[in-house]
Amino acid sequence: MLRTHTCGELRANDIDHVLTLCGWVHARRDHGGVIFIDLRDRYGLTQIVFNPAFDKKTHTAAEKLRREDVICATGLVKERAAGMKNPDLATGDIEVFINGLQVLNQAEIPPMEIDDRKVPNEATSLRYRYLDLRRPGMQQRLMVRHTAAQAARSYLNALGFLEIETPLLLKHTPEGARDYIVPSRVHPGKVYSLPQSPQLYKQTLMIAGFDRYYQLARCLRDEDLREDRQPEFTQIDIEMSFAEEDDVLRMAEGLIAALWKEAAGKKLKLPFPRMSYDDAIAAYGIDRPDLRFGLELVDVTEIAKASSFKVFADAVKGGGIVKCINATKADFTRTQLEETIAFAQEQGAKGLAWMKMTDKGLESNIVKFFDEKQQQALVKAMAAKPGDVLLFVADTAKKCNEVLSKLRVKLGSALKLVKEGELRFTWITGFPLVEWNEEEKRWDAMHHPFTSPKPEHLALLEKDPAKVKARAYDLVLNGIELGGGSIRNHQAGVQERLFSLLGYSTKDADAKFGFFLEALRYGAPPHGGIAFGFDRICAMLCGLRDIREVIAFPKSKAAENPMDGSPSPADEKHLKELHLELDAAAKKNISERGANETGARGAR
Ligand code: AMO
Ligand code: AMP
Repeated sequence: MLRTHTCGELRANDIDHVLTLCGWVHARRDHGGVIFIDLRDRYGLTQIVFNPAFDKKTHTAAEKLRREDVICATGLVKERAAGMKNPDLATGDIEVFINGLQVLNQAEIPPMEIDDRKVPNEATSLRYRYLDLRRPGMQQRLMVRHTAAQAARSYLNALGFLEIETPLLLKHTPEGARDYIVPSRVHPGKVYSLPQSPQLYKQTLMIAGFDRYYQLARCLRDEDLREDRQPEFTQIDIEMSFAEEDDVLRMAEGLIAALWKEAAGKKLKLPFPRMSYDDAIAAYGIDRPDLRFGLELVDVTEIAKASSFKVFADAVKGGGIVKCINATKADFTRTQLEETIAFAQEQGAKGLAWMKMTDKGLESNIVKFFDEKQQQALVKAMAAKPGDVLLFVADTAKKCNEVLSKLRVKLGSALKLVKEGELRFTWITGFPLVEWNEEEKRWDAMHHPFTSPKPEHLALLEKDPAKVKARAYDLVLNGIELGGGSIRNHQAGVQERLFSLLGYSTKDADAKFGFFLEALRYGAPPHGGIAFGFDRICAMLCGLRDIREVIAFPKSKAAENPMDGSPSPADEKHLKELHLELDAAAKKNISERGANETGARGAR
């Protein structure tokens, strides 16, 4: 190695030793002819000193050093003068007086500072990702990710799980998003899909007798991006045979606890609480509730429909419901109230009715439509106290829940109800197996089509699909879905009935999943599993929500990589080989912006 030590290593007991460090010039200060440089690597910072009285030649050379130059410096470790020690720096007791300097490489003036307090905008940080990743904060996060990956592996290895890779070029795997596809050159007109998850392959491994499988699996989904969604992401994907719900949940809880212990130094309390899907929707309007604060939704349909407020009465008459949140102690001003109403409308509400609780009782423009008894019933149902503000939405149950679940989260942060660092895990169980897709007039699988119905609901599968509950579970942390899975259909007959409910003809099912249906007939053991979003876990381990912060090379919101310029225009020769042609819209897109905007970097 060119170095004897790293930049994070030296302490008081290294004083008087001669040694060599390598790293990047982080900052340079000139103090009355003495040059101080903070030398940086991923282990930390060390102050190195170029003093002409100590060594004239290296001092002269150091005058030319610039930010991000890469150097190798040899010298003598000295104790810092009294008052010059830096307790905030691990190496703050010492400095190294340099008498040997080699410039390993010079850097152009970097377009950003390598400083966690000066985080560049997204365009710059992704375009110059190699510089952004030099920030100590980013390095720390990728180290947490590494630790978490290793902890997951050792936990699962110890339980006898085998790490097995599954293909990247495969037949469509249904997870509900759009597939990325790869045209085959050898088979003109045919395509491979990139995996949305290894679902069918891990189940096939169970059929093959590998009764405990895991993989840190790359998954690809062509879907709209959000802060917790990337087109490429990683799952800790797990499957086990001869297991029931409790076995999977217990194994998974242990995994999560191991990750938090190893990668965040936190001890989690097990088991995690469980909540039914129905209870979650009732109280939080959503199946991934943030349990760090209350503000539960309350169904006040019965009280509301008896009132003379037409908006409520009409909504209920039309089959809708009325739900209410008590914004506890919100004591909104007029402006705050208007902002809250506007927010609800942006989320698709027709309006947001409100009442303020005062010492004299409820007050607002609509209180007059509620008689004394109805007002008392509302106060009781909402446990309203002076200073509280009641917020109502009347609409279909779906819309009420959608709007109020978002409003609840907004209020939670606006009213500062979230305690820093608090972790509230919960399992959600008892999901419906299928949900009605009104647009397409058909049943969709709520998780994916391989999820098993509860055995006691099997008879309802054709008669009353909405009532069938699945053997599925999700793990939620602070309002984020960390993972989900289920016990699967291991009997071909049940799987075929489910396909038929989902509207696949036998021919369709065969064409899409034929190999898998066939495999099920050759002795498939009962099995189930789960997949965790590893990026989401890593973000939460770092106390963050944006998963791009824990991915070395993420895509931008527009699914582009500004560093390498992907996606870039396909070249003619390549298209021809694949028997593909661009249509007019694609040609127009390329000629208008393709080459300049994204293609330019990739072309280098
Ligand atoms: P599911 O589709 O719920 O289940 O995915 C499992 C977990 O993966 C994470 N996740 C994502 N993370 C980042 N970006 C995305 N675009 C993204 N999409 C999903 C979430 C989610 O909980 N095969 C099943 C699992 C199973 O049944 O075993 C599956 O993939 O944290
Ligand atoms: P309007 O009669 O439409 O002027 O509405 C009277 C009040 O009811 C206003 O404060 C609206 O914001 C509110 N409102 C209207 N529609 C709804 C609805 N669907 N749910 C809750 N409040 C509503």
